[in-house]
Amino acid sequence: MGGSSGASFAPGLEGVVAAETRISGVDGEAGVLTLAGFPVEEISGRVTFEEIVYLLRHDELPDAGELAAFRTALAGRRGLPGATLELLRAAAARKVPEMDALRMAVDTSSLDLSDDPALDLVARFPVIVAVYHRLLRDEEPVAPDPSLGHAANYLYMLGGERPGEGSVRALETYLNAVSDHGMNASTFAARVVVATRSDLVSAIVGAVGALKGPLHGGAPGPALDVVFEIGSAENAEAVLREKLRRGERLMGFGHRIYRVRDPRADVLAAAAEHLFATNGDKELYDLALQVEKTALRLLEEHRPGRNLQTNVEFYTALLLHGLGLPTDLFTPTFAVGRVAGWTAHCLEQRAEDRLIRPQSEYVGATGRSWTLPEER
Ligand code: ACO
Repeated sequence: MGGSSGASFAPGLEGVVAAETRISGVDGEAGVLTLAGFPVEEISGRVTFEEIVYLLRHDELPDAGELAAFRTALAGRRGLPGATLELLRAAAARKVPEMDALRMAVDTSSLDLSDDPALDLVARFPVIVAVYHRLLRDEEPVAPDPSLGHAANYLYMLGGERPGEGSVRALETYLNAVSDHGMNASTFAARVVVATRSDLVSAIVGAVGALKGPLHGGAPGPALDVVFEIGSAENAEAVLREKLRRGERLMGFGHRIYRVRDPRADVLAAAAEHLFATNGDKELYDLALQVEKTALRLLEEHRPGRNLQTNVEFYTALLLHGLGLPTDLFTPTFAVGRVAGWTAHCLEQRAEDRLIRPQSEYVGATGRSWTLPEER
């Protein structure tokens, strides 16, 4: 349909290029995700999260000296304003869901920002999530440990114990793999806010709200629930068929951009396999593989030729479960990784300094005349 300007309407902005970015590129046909020049498979399992944050922001990996300084700068920003803690306590008393608590807490960051709000936010995300997680369980928060790296400190603040190296590596692989992904909904939301010359905290609050939805970052919990519901491989077909018959979507499958397997799924599958092989819960991993295989077969039957493939959320669920995280931490942990990309995009958009303002096509009534209320 043509609009008044001759521009055409693209539902869901599908196929519309809304920005030029050097932060990440997604080729949905070839199944390639590039993070600032590096294929996701090349870099995710090899670097620390601090290096990814630096890379997305500066377009190059830090050298040893730069990395040490950056680690210290991030670790030094883990303190939360007192009012943020008070808010989290009030939210926990009301059992507010994690993503809502994260959104509200991020908003309070404005109370105490340094001259680098992007770094403040990246540093504070895991602290907010971990503090809130403990408060929800009537446990006192654990103070951050500045000697620990970003990912290790997150696990430490969640569980109160220094994590093993394998767990830290698995978490970093995950955080790195999801750190950015082209013009996804939450990143777009953040860029739209910053493009009005609004502030970074407002943009990141919007991004958290967008990530929460089940069509974006809210899928991994439900994806794992389905694996548990299936319980053993022979039930997979019946359970999944019934879901499709009822018109439900299978969580962890399908993607707006990818028409082949999401490359992040492979990265996370390998990390999950490694983690499960070492922590002994191999049965669940094997069951998930069976569920995936059956789901892909049934989805091809359900939407022939649509190529509905495994997305990042399926193996996210498995990996985070292997790390001992409960399902309600899955989406907040996604946010802990993605805030690296959001903040880098905000800085890029700010430099671009171009208002994002698409058009709409009016499809309502025309030529109406006003009448008195008693005559309507
Ligand atoms: N299960 C069953 N059917 C599906 C699924 C699925 N997982 N995904 C798509 N379909 C169906 C759609 O209902 C649609 O059918 P219709 O034409 O009868 O309406 C058809 O396949 C084509 O859908 P697409 O156009 O490919 O999907 P779209 O781009 O609109 O949505 C999305 C992509 C939202 C990810 C979708 O595949 C979905 O809902 N998946 C399940 C939720 C999920 O895993 N979300 C995480 C996404 S990854 C991320 O954000 C990090």
